[in-house]
Amino acid sequence: MTAVLIDGKSVAGKVTEHVKRTVEMLKDKGIEPSLATVLVGNDEASATYVRNKHRACEQVGIKTMNYHLPEDYSTNQLMELIEMLNEDRRVHGILVQLPLPRHINEFLITSMIKPSKDVDCLTPFNIGLLAYDVAKLLPCTPSGIVELMKHYRIDPAGKHVVIVNRSVLVGKPLSIMLLHMDATVTVCHSKTTNLEERCREADIVVTAVGDRSRFVLSKDMVKDGAVVIDVGIDRVDGRIVGDADTDVREKASYITPVPGGVGPMTVAMLLRNTVIAAALSEGVDLALHADR
Ligand code: GUN
Repeated sequence: MTAVLIDGKSVAGKVTEHVKRTVEMLKDKGIEPSLATVLVGNDEASATYVRNKHRACEQVGIKTMNYHLPEDYSTNQLMELIEMLNEDRRVHGILVQLPLPRHINEFLITSMIKPSKDVDCLTPFNIGLLAYDVAKLLPCTPSGIVELMKHYRIDPAGKHVVIVNRSVLVGKPLSIMLLHMDATVTVCHSKTTNLEERCREADIVVTAVGDRSRFVLSKDMVKDGAVVIDVGIDRVDGRIVGDADTDVREKASYITPVPGGVGPMTVAMLLRNTVIAAALSEGVDLALHADR
């Protein structure tokens, strides 16, 4: 079997086009959607991600504000900034790029974002709404994965999905979203025993480790005809690669390439969340999740 390559760039392009039209419609109503990003420190990968998010916003007409703060910025200073952004009516979405430096309490910071501006779905309130399947702002990478599945008519209902990641950005919220789609979900992590066997049992494998010295999804860890969603991003010999070995494509039915798979969807869903947040703040319901 040779896997169908899931074209995340193309699906993200469609989402982005829709967002762009929505931005124009909101601007006609006098609403200018805006996103504030907060980046602390000098992590190069994080800076690149934030830059990409800004560029994508510009392309659809979303206004951006960039708070790039020094590595030694304190938790208190950051709390004051979030408070200011929470109060600023011109700011519709707040994105705090993770990870934060170790001296900053990540939970304290993310949990004080106003839920209506929480375009990453990281606040306890929004994660609670997600658990009840009534969230309007869905987590970006998980909702990007779900959108790709819908586009390629990959229905996880009744399927065994194995997720190799337990983070609050990917594994935990994705497991909730897939449960709502009637999947049977196993969440694996660094302490999981028989991880290779767990992966082999999966109809759908979602892997998001991003460090090939710690985890690689090899061909012998994938069942014939399985769907492979590769969220990993690592750099090997100057090339961007995912968690899955290239020859996994010989066994899988569908696979997301890296780059060009899930990555563009994460950004597209952030744009979508920002216009949803902008519309909701002014009492406009866009029904962008009309199929939910
Ligand atoms: N770090 C890596 N990916 C993400 C993301 O989607 N959102 C935030 N806030 N931080 C990240």
